[in-house]
Amino acid sequence: MSDAPRLPPAYRLVALERVGSTNEEARRRAEQGAADGTLIWAQEQTAGRGRRGRRWDSPRGNLYFSLVLRPESEPAHAAQLGMVAAVAVADVLADMVPPSAPVALKWPNDVLAGGRKLGGILLESAAGAAGRLDWLVLGIGINIASAPAATEFPATCLRAVSDAPVETAQVLEGFARAFLDGRRIWRAEGFAPIRQAWLSRAWRRGEPIQARLEGRSIGGVFADLDEEGALLLELADGAQRRITAADVFALPPSP
Ligand code: BTN
Repeated sequence: MSDAPRLPPAYRLVALERVGSTNEEARRRAEQGAADGTLIWAQEQTAGRGRRGRRWDSPRGNLYFSLVLRPESEPAHAAQLGMVAAVAVADVLADMVPPSAPVALKWPNDVLAGGRKLGGILLESAAGAAGRLDWLVLGIGINIASAPAATEFPATCLRAVSDAPVETAQVLEGFARAFLDGRRIWRAEGFAPIRQAWLSRAWRRGEPIQARLEGRSIGGVFADLDEEGALLLELADGAQRRITAADVFALPPSP
């Protein structure tokens, strides 16, 4: 195993060699009462999961972890915490890649380097009493040593974009600190500064994109994020469309 990361005391690290899915493990522990800050880190996953039921290839050498949170807030705030995490991942990776492969965030929370996917985030949650979140699991995968081939959206890894060797533990440590800072800001000031931070790193803001929903696609200009983190698309007729779940792709400008 890589050297153990040194995490701030707010975290309780569970380091595993191999697991089906760190999200599944985190979810199981959350259901059994695991505390906020429990962080499951595995060297490899045999059944890694991506968004929308996809598989997440998880060979050794990349970073796979899931963080249990108990935010005691409304379920609608889960997406906001996903964006806190996305900004933290982007900031850590931005310090590790050369300017030739700039880091950007693709809605809802994919992290890109040079326009290719370097990492993704899977949110899973359960509601508790009085409609509050009981727990939220943030599952994060970052391609460090290798990237999957033949993905619908092209992927990359840190090793392909940077000459400097990077350890998974180093990225995890950086994330743990950056996420604590972001969460502190979110608690004290709400979503507004996080939304601004996310937008300042956004991929294709103001440009034509295609949002692929279950069974259909909608093209439009990426206009903004709303107060809950939903994507606002401006359609050809000028109307605005609010999107809460989709995969986003580039769309060439119309002639
Ligand atoms: C995406 O589809 O972009 C989200 C990918 C999330 C992958 C991570 S790897 C660690 C955690 N465990 C999983 O099974 N999935 C998430």
